[in-house]
Amino acid sequence: MIIAQISDTHLALDAPDADRRIQDFESTIADINALEPAPDVIVHTGDIVHHGRRDEYARALAILAKARAPVHVLAGNKDNRSTLREAFSGCGYFEPSSDFLDYAIEDHPVRLIALDTLSSRSNKGDFCPERVRRLIRLIDAETTKPIAVFTHHPPFEVTVGPDRLHFETSEAMAELRRALQHSGRVVAVFSGHVHRAAAGHVGSIPATVMPSVATTLRRGEYPAQMMRRPIYQVHRFDPAWRVASETRIVETAPSSASTCDDARPRAEAVQSVSCS
Ligand SMILES: [Fe+2]
Repeated sequence: MIIAQISDTHLALDAPDADRRIQDFESTIADINALEPAPDVIVHTGDIVHHGRRDEYARALAILAKARAPVHVLAGNKDNRSTLREAFSGCGYFEPSSDFLDYAIEDHPVRLIALDTLSSRSNKGDFCPERVRRLIRLIDAETTKPIAVFTHHPPFEVTVGPDRLHFETSEAMAELRRALQHSGRVVAVFSGHVHRAAAGHVGSIPATVMPSVATTLRRGEYPAQMMRRPIYQVHRFDPAWRVASETRIVETAPSSASTCDDARPRAEAVQSVSCS
């Protein structure tokens, strides 16, 4: 079971670096398509777009439509729940009766659970009692397989300037940690949001954060030759050694330069995104 994780593409069609963000996203998907062996699934851990606009999601869908593996997405704090839900409605993994964009994917030897950690009050994460109940229900729906959990906000301490916590309250983070540990079957947590690489634990569960795919928004120190090369993660699961993660540094330039002019919605591409 191989998962390619991408995060924080922040497509913004009118930003000064709009072309670059598109190129970073496109070249990352092209690199994932060339992986051997191919990944079973691609998970985008949020901040797909920067303003939550329909035209931004249409551009993101057109890029994701080129992915050979099924694509699953999470909402980040820069996403808009309702516009994202509308854009990815064809994938069918969002529950129509809930505002929250959380779900489980059952098609693989490792279950994938995507969480909604958005707050209506700030860019930080939140995890209210209703989401705790929903997470426990998702975990308990199957009792034999290991589970990989994906969140936008990292549910462990990652030092960024003076800030170590990326949830609004330590209580919300503690509730999420307790829920993640309650079954003993969650074997890894993968997150985004802070735009830099980090590793830690959520209780006893290993957890990592990956840098932003958008190279202009990436945080941390990188050699000059890496400045224009997007980074993503490949997570390999095996029953014997659980999870091993590899950082991929995208080597090739995109096949064609994109401009804001070709960033218009492409309905046919939107319909061909593979979600399962
Ligand atoms: Fe972000």
